[in-house]
Amino acid sequence: MIAEGAIEIIRAEKSKLQDINLENIPFGKYFTDYMLEADYKNGEWQTPVIRPYQPLMMAPSVAALHYGQAIFEGIKAYKDPAGNGYIFRPFDNFKRFNLSAVRMAMPEVPEEIFMDGMHKLLQMDINWIPNQADHSLYIRPFMFSSEEMIGVKPSEQYKFMIILSPTGPYYNTPMRIYVEEQYVRAVQGGVGEAKTAGNYAASMLATAEAKKKGYDQVLWMDALEHRYVQECGTMNVFFVIGNTAITPGLDKGTILAGVTRDSVITILQEMGLTVEERDLSIEEVMDAYKSGELKEVFGSGTAATISMIKELKYKDFVMEWDVEKYTVCQQVKTLLNNIRYGKSPDTHGWMYKI
Ligand code: COI
Repeated sequence: MIAEGAIEIIRAEKSKLQDINLENIPFGKYFTDYMLEADYKNGEWQTPVIRPYQPLMMAPSVAALHYGQAIFEGIKAYKDPAGNGYIFRPFDNFKRFNLSAVRMAMPEVPEEIFMDGMHKLLQMDINWIPNQADHSLYIRPFMFSSEEMIGVKPSEQYKFMIILSPTGPYYNTPMRIYVEEQYVRAVQGGVGEAKTAGNYAASMLATAEAKKKGYDQVLWMDALEHRYVQECGTMNVFFVIGNTAITPGLDKGTILAGVTRDSVITILQEMGLTVEERDLSIEEVMDAYKSGELKEVFGSGTAATISMIKELKYKDFVMEWDVEKYTVCQQVKTLLNNIRYGKSPDTHGWMYKI
């Protein structure tokens, strides 16, 4: 735990919780009573502060607003049937956060600030974890360059924060996905595996255009040949072909190394499926669809959890599935949820008690 005095705490006069109904709550709209804030300056991290959730005061010259040196994470906390709070695999997100920091030339955040600060914040806002099925408390750690300067160079000051948002499902219904041919998300040597704000900014036009055509999200293809599947909007993607689940590999550094992705791989293997992390071309996807072997397609992500995909459109070729027949995806979702909501034993050591 964080040492006595290593974190400053400013208490709220009263909780906002009684004004909010935590049932059927939309994603990312409401925020809890507290937030954590830690500044990096003069080459070191300053004492973190937990204070009431409130707006930030910033100069218009703050570097992040101009050059986008900004990274973030998504983590979820759940309640077990006895009402105890748990965070799902926070150390994995902590490690990924610092990988993103290194890639974006930002300072790494020490464990005492990220992990112990998150723990303390969650203890203070523990009553905000919803009880309802498919609901959780979404944890959003993030960091941005906070130096006041107009000049393209790594900033000398950064702000690390954690905010919390009670939430329901990100995607409510099975998804229709447009296979993107024109725009690309990531290229080898780029920042595809970093969870940096710009990756999401760059995805918005393609997603908006796909939405106009009636699709929920895009499926990104590799930037060189526009042939190999990468990931879907806000989630990693799995294709169940026969008794094998295929998901694009992480070897090229163009895909986000999803913590949910990793958990799904473990669960699929425990279910007896073969999991292949490898290049998967859109031709292979279409061939498997035509032969009837491509049984299920689904996405995985912290926000998205496990989301069924019912349609993929590539050029003029439409692939559709009856998601009522999805058994693998349903089973993965149930097994994962049972662990998250404390209904089955945590044999992998994924749940971190608050
Ligand atoms: C997450 O799954 O936590 C994400 O960060 C995706 C999205 C909400 C940006």
